[in-house]
Amino acid sequence: MKKFNITIVGGGSTWTPGILKSLCKMKDRFPLKKLTLFDINAKRQAVIGEFAKVLFSEEYPDLDFNYTTDAETAYKDVDFVFVQMRSGGLKMREKDEKIPLSMGIVGQETVGPGGFAYGMRSIGDMIKTVKDIRKYSEKAWILNYTNPAAIVAEALRREFPNDKRILNICDQPVNLLRSYGRLLNMNADEFDPVYFGLNHFGWFTHIYDKDGNDLLPKIKQLILEKGFIPADAEQRDKSWLDTYATVRDILIDFPDYLPNTYLQYYFYPDKMTAKANPNYTRANEVMDGREKRIFDECRRVIERGTVKGAQIFHNDAHSDFIIEVAESIAFNKARNFIVIVENNGVISNIQDDAMVEVAASLTASGPRPYVVGKIPTFYKGLIESQLAYEKLTVDAYFERSYQKALQALTLNRTVVSAIKARKVLDALIEVNKEYWPDLK
Ligand code: G6P
Ligand code: MN
Repeated sequence: MKKFNITIVGGGSTWTPGILKSLCKMKDRFPLKKLTLFDINAKRQAVIGEFAKVLFSEEYPDLDFNYTTDAETAYKDVDFVFVQMRSGGLKMREKDEKIPLSMGIVGQETVGPGGFAYGMRSIGDMIKTVKDIRKYSEKAWILNYTNPAAIVAEALRREFPNDKRILNICDQPVNLLRSYGRLLNMNADEFDPVYFGLNHFGWFTHIYDKDGNDLLPKIKQLILEKGFIPADAEQRDKSWLDTYATVRDILIDFPDYLPNTYLQYYFYPDKMTAKANPNYTRANEVMDGREKRIFDECRRVIERGTVKGAQIFHNDAHSDFIIEVAESIAFNKARNFIVIVENNGVISNIQDDAMVEVAASLTASGPRPYVVGKIPTFYKGLIESQLAYEKLTVDAYFERSYQKALQALTLNRTVVSAIKARKVLDALIEVNKEYWPDLK
């Protein structure tokens, strides 16, 4: 069986140990020769990297492993690069959330002005990363989790129009599928879903089982009766449990399809801001929670020299998904996944050059999306305004345009007022000086 060389960008991320554990779990299906962690933050990465050495000495002894902050070492001779960077770190996530909230606007890392700010940081770092990778590995597959995925995907489409080996992905559809699985007492691997939308802005229209039965009506009924929790509810913080519970509210208002959880911010911006604590947001919850738990546990593993008995908190869906995507490409398995691709008629009444999130078969030559067809007016209207916001954000970046940024934020459903848009934009410019281009 062929063995692969992989690099993980964002090696010092709290999500990395989970991916490393899944790589061990899946080593017979997707075997590695070499694994490299790359991060620009040497200190964080050293903790995760030393933890990895202990893990692999016990669970992957023949693996050639190293960690580095040097691009050439990271990208030379690799088959797959998994990218999951957070430009500006959690420190900037906190600002993305708190600045809009302080003005009564939704404060979320990928939604509204917070997502805009994060996007303006991520685009530059992602373009640089892709260029660095291509310098050393022309043909490596770049599987990209970096957020806000919709904006990053649009920016990469424009910057690298001929590069067909960049695939933007998000674990939230898989998280939802696994959660439906828990509700139905079924394995989500058996589902054949139909999904359409933009990243963090989409809907399941059908979920077929192996016999071709559509399980969607049953799932909707169960959610309305019993509520909804994530597949890994026991591992989740309160804010995520609240988010999943809101799916029931969305279904009561809009019962056609099963919504992505992120739609809560667009449908109920007033409710979301009212219940948020402007002094303690999700960034704080992550810093006090996952961040501490993971780094403490990694340090303990290093000290003890064994992973036996260690509790490395992680989300299986997130870590398994990116590896299964790589496996399907590597072995031409043509398995179906929900991924982000250029529309080109997949959703027939949405423009061709939109980066949409839909089901696709993943082969060695890349994603082959399945036709969705025409979508109804309500969904088309929502998607078109969100798409215009995303495109204008990317315009603002490439054209260094304050005017486009103002248009983008005014169009966003979480903002609407041009007065608020200007105020939040000016505040975000102020704190993002070292990350954003100068907007004229
Ligand atoms: C989901 C989304 C990701 C996002 C993550 C944030 O998995 O699909 O795009 O980064 O949630 O989770 P956190 O626990 O950091 O709030
Ligand atoms: Mn996502």
